Amino acid sequence: MKRTTLLESFSLGHGVMMRNRIVMAPITTWAGNDDGTVSAEEEAYYLLRVKDVGLVITGCTHVQQNGIGFTDEFAAYDDKFIPGLTRLAAAAKSGGAPAIHQVFHAGVKPRPDLVSDIVAASAVPGDAGPSAPSVTPRAPFPVGSASPFTWAVAMSIRDSVPSRKFVTHTSEPTKMPSG
Ligand SMILES: Cc1cc2nc3c(=O)[nH]c(=O)nc-3n(C[C@H](O)[C@H](O)[C@H](O)COP(=O)(O)O)c2cc1C
Repeated sequence: MKRTTLLESFSLGHGVMMRNRIVMAPITTWAGNDDGTVSAEEEAYYLLRVKDVGLVITGCTHVQQNGIGFTDEFAAYDDKFIPGLTRLAAAAKSGGAPAIHQVFHAGVKPRPDLVSDIVAASAVPGDAGPSAPSVTPRAPFPVGSASPFTWAVAMSIRDSVPSRKFVTHTSEPTKMPSG
């Protein structure tokens, strides 16, 4: 039989180990509460699925109020979301694997019915997608000063305070990098 590395451990660095190379992909469930907090259903979804995988990545969580990309998406733009995110973190880690809280900003791909001030890296209309029409965003920076990726990462790092607290608010089976 051909040797496979799928079940071998893998180091992500900084002391974070995956016990195998099976990753639970980030999946948005449209199951958040109306106020953006994590619902019991969302928690149950992780509790059921995390057993035996090597790494868990949560569904995306918007880091600014105007960054929402899907209906009933859970949020991480304010400390008020910490209790729910803490429950989510515990559920995501309940199988013993490290978990990544995915933070994002929908940028030019928001739900226009949920976002009045549409902002993105540049004022270029986005393509229409299955869940949203084409919109032209407001750009907060001079043209060309930030790529969409750089902008989204910068927004996520600046505004996802609850996400940074995410790893410290749970019992910690895995050593996480400091800072
Ligand atoms: C219903 C659904 C929700 C998803 N939600 C997210 C998400 O929140 N964040 C993300 O990065 N990818 C998301 N994805 C992408 C998946 O994690 C995965 O990368 C993608 O489906 C490609 O894998 P596949 O070729 O096996 O389908 C989603 C995909 C589906 C089908």
